[in-house]
Amino acid sequence: MNKKRVLSGVQPTGELHIGNWLGAIRNWVELQKTHETFVCVVDLHAITVPHDPALLAKETLSTAALYIACGMDPKISSIFIQSQISAHSELCWILNCLTPLNWMERMIQFKEKSIKQGDNVSIGLLDYPVLMAADILLYDADLVPVGEDQKQHLELARDIAQQRINSRFGSEEQPILKVPSPLIIKEGAKVMSLIDGNKKMSKSEPNEGSRIALLDPPEVIAKKIKRAKTDSFIGLEFGNKERPETENLLSIYAILSGLGKEKAAKDCESMGWGTFKPLLTEVTIDALRPIQEKYVELIKDPTELNKILNDGRRSASEVAELTLEKVRRALGFFNAV
Ligand code: TYM
Repeated sequence: MNKKRVLSGVQPTGELHIGNWLGAIRNWVELQKTHETFVCVVDLHAITVPHDPALLAKETLSTAALYIACGMDPKISSIFIQSQISAHSELCWILNCLTPLNWMERMIQFKEKSIKQGDNVSIGLLDYPVLMAADILLYDADLVPVGEDQKQHLELARDIAQQRINSRFGSEEQPILKVPSPLIIKEGAKVMSLIDGNKKMSKSEPNEGSRIALLDPPEVIAKKIKRAKTDSFIGLEFGNKERPETENLLSIYAILSGLGKEKAAKDCESMGWGTFKPLLTEVTIDALRPIQEKYVELIKDPTELNKILNDGRRSASEVAELTLEKVRRALGFFNAV
């Protein structure tokens, strides 16, 4: 039986943080054992906001290296760079012409990000979820493992596939595109900022103290956790709406220590911050150490990384070209005979 297919990606904008790992990459690593897995570094998405050309290629390579350092295995998964496969842009254009503008204007991330850009909002920023739909639909993905914040984008990809392509140009028996399902694993799906438990941990937040980057050295991790916002209640607990920071820090601890929520809550129920924070620091440093060691090894040898990305490009391109061809045919584009 054919394996089900998985596709996902991360933008190479700034340093990846534990939210990206716990909400997304960690799940890819598990899924690759049982699914045909494609993961890309979505560099075309990175230019939807002003970017530094001197950093784009470097951060793209570094993101790919982090995928592998986190456990993605190039022997069983395809790891590739989005912009190296032109089918992404081509399908995006086709989908653009079929997607109503008012669907795009509803996107929460667009609203949030466009506020930050002021008068400088690009069409790319508005169009970003259509490009994301193209990323997914090109690979006939069954499952798209992402964090909570991408749920609305996934719904859009489903609506485009179903309502704008399959029902107009295909038939029920012969759909043109596979309608993907999001995979949002509750534990880790929304890691919050260290300085505000009501805000998502984010690469674009100017205050670096709000996130723990996967490559932060131990002393930086210690400092960030020491400064993380807390509250004045005694003991740690889950489920108290007045304590968003506690919910977040205890959740991170439960995952990174491997104890799980129940045991972590029990162990920490009467702990003060002075005891808990060093403990959280220790498990975070220990959890990130193997990733950091593997990353250093990989980034020293760009030849090996380039080879992995070339192989990934080849296998991804085969699948993407087939889907694009199917769409081109269904929409009636000229084909030389
Ligand atoms: P990006 O680069 O913002 O984030 C990459 C992945 O990390 C997840 N994530 C989080 N999970 C938990 N807690 C957080 N604080 C947190 N912050 C980020 C995101 O949900 C995501 O899974 N549009 C996407 C990239 C993309 C994509 C795709 C993803 C482009 N094409 C196709 C899947 C499939 C984005 O900006 O993710």
